[in-house]
Amino acid sequence: MLSYRHAYHAGNFADVFKHVVLTMLLQALARKDKPYVYIDTHAGAGRYDLHSEAARKHREFASGIARVWGVPGAPAPVAAYLEAVAALNAASGRAVDAGATPRWYPGSPRIARHLLRHGDRMVLGELHSSEAPLLQREFAQDRCVQVVRGDGYHLLKSHLPPAERRGMVLIDPSYERREEIDHIVAALREGQQRWATGIYAIWYPVMPKVPATALHRRVIAAGTPKVLCAELCVLPDDNPLGMNGAGMIIVNPPFQFDAELRPVLSWLHQRFDVERQGRAEVRWLVPE
Ligand SMILES: C[S@@+](CC[C@H](N)C(=O)[O-])C[C@H]1O[C@@H](n2cnc3c(N)ncnc32)[C@H](O)[C@@H]1O
Repeated sequence: MLSYRHAYHAGNFADVFKHVVLTMLLQALARKDKPYVYIDTHAGAGRYDLHSEAARKHREFASGIARVWGVPGAPAPVAAYLEAVAALNAASGRAVDAGATPRWYPGSPRIARHLLRHGDRMVLGELHSSEAPLLQREFAQDRCVQVVRGDGYHLLKSHLPPAERRGMVLIDPSYERREEIDHIVAALREGQQRWATGIYAIWYPVMPKVPATALHRRVIAAGTPKVLCAELCVLPDDNPLGMNGAGMIIVNPPFQFDAELRPVLSWLHQRFDVERQGRAEVRWLVPE
């Protein structure tokens, strides 16, 4: 039984970090004219209402999107991500002004949809019985989006290699199961065997109960080539409570992605870690 609902966390600092990295990866894919595919194994509901009871319960967006929305001097990739947020709000009939927090927060599928070009397509997986129908409704009339209800890890078997031979997979689980890391490593192995040149981005929380170092070790031990890791933490790593930060493993990142990402991460870190207790880091787990 899945109990995680992303609506409680939508727009928090970890979401902003993930969605800015996603924006950068899709922008890099769009530098060539050829079409690409975006596969999102754990897609969520697609969009979130920041006025909802769930979002207002802990107001996580207040230390996330609210800290970058309307802030002058944002690096270009952050500005592009904010454009995706603004576009969703404009399309939903909300006047978007720079000062207030936007009402609608786009999940990874909506961010990606904003960046897709004519000829690109996306495949979204979602298992939760409440989230999956919302996702299906969100993209019901959209011919470049395929929503698959069920275990998103299976998409790496059923949809790889893609006909386009270019694109990326986002693996963004809720880490509710103890064996989540086993599933990630197995899915990555399966994906790489079928499509070695694809970009794979895996999000994880930095918190005591999720052993990120074990995930790193196992991805390295699997012989995965070209693995970049980015982490943004707002609390010290040894803080025993809650989520101290978020990380992403990026397999086969675009050329010079590390150099592009460092200043962006540093800007986000300055916005989010106001008490300077955490860190921002981009490093190679397996060098190019
Ligand atoms: C962190 S949320 C996804 C957020 C989304 N990627 C975004 O950035 O907007 C994780 C989602 O994965 C779903 N989920 C959990 N296990 C799954 C599985 N095995 N296959 C597909 N979806 C799953 C949960 O219901 C939840 O909606």
